[in-house]
Amino acid sequence: MEETIRTKRHRDLDVAELVALAGLFDSEYLSEYGRWNPDAPYGYSPADFHVLAFRGPVLAAHVGFQPRLIGVGAHDIVVAGTGGVLVDERARGTGLGGRVMRHAQQVMCDEAKVDFGFLGCRQEVVPFYESTGWVPVYATERCLSRLDQKSVIVSEGGPNLICSAVCDVSQWPHGGIDLRGTPW
Ligand SMILES: CC(C)(COP(=O)(O)OP(=O)(O)OC[C@H]1O[C@@H](n2cnc3c(N)ncnc32)[C@H](O)[C@@H]1OP(=O)(O)O)[C@@H](O)C(=O)NCCC(=O)NCCS
Repeated sequence: MEETIRTKRHRDLDVAELVALAGLFDSEYLSEYGRWNPDAPYGYSPADFHVLAFRGPVLAAHVGFQPRLIGVGAHDIVVAGTGGVLVDERARGTGLGGRVMRHAQQVMCDEAKVDFGFLGCRQEVVPFYESTGWVPVYATERCLSRLDQKSVIVSEGGPNLICSAVCDVSQWPHGGIDLRGTPW
C-alpha cells in the first residue's frame, strides 16, 4: 500500500485529520488515559507540528513537536519538544516509526529551524530513538507536572534524549534542564 508522510501545523489540521488522530491515539491509550485531547494530550504540551504517515488513506503513524525556548545550564536554547510518537499496532516493526521520525527531524531543521530535538521517554523505547540518531543526555530536569500543569517536578536520569537540528548534538550545553512548562 502506498505510504505518504506529510506535515501539518496544529492550527491547519482539518476535521478528517483530527478524527484520524483521535482514532490512532484512542486505540492505544483510551483505556488507560482516557480520550485524546488535541490541545492538551493527556496533560502534556500540545504539538505545533504534526508529522502524519498514511498507508493509503489510513493514518498509521504520528510524531508531534512544539518549538520552545528552554533553559540548559546558563543557556537559552530552542528545542522541538517531541511527543505523541505512535505507530498503529498493525504497522509496527516495519520501519515506519523510523521513517516518520527521520521526516520529523528534517522538518525540525528545515522548517521549524530549532536548535535541537528533545524528548523524554520510557527506558524500554530508548533503542528505538537511538536508531534514528537521538542521543541520551544526563542532567537534572525541571518541568511542570502533566497532571495539574502547575506542580514543579525535579528529576534525574530521564531518560531524556536530544537530536541534531540546526545545531549538532555535540553542541548541547552542559547543565540542568528547565523545560519551563509541561513536557511533551
Ligand atoms: C516505539 C514505536 C513508535 C516504534 O515504531 P516501529 O515502526 O515499530 O519502529 P521501527 O520498525 O521503525 O523500528 C526501528 C528500530 O527501533 C527498534 N524498536 C522498535 N520498537 C521498539 C521498542 N518498542 N523498544 C525498543 N526498540 C524498538 C527496532 O528494533 C528497530 O531497530 P533496527 O533498526 O535495529 O531494526 C512503536 O512501537 C509504537 O508506537 N509503540 C507504542 C507507543 C510508544 O511506546 N511510543 C513511544 C512513546 S515515548
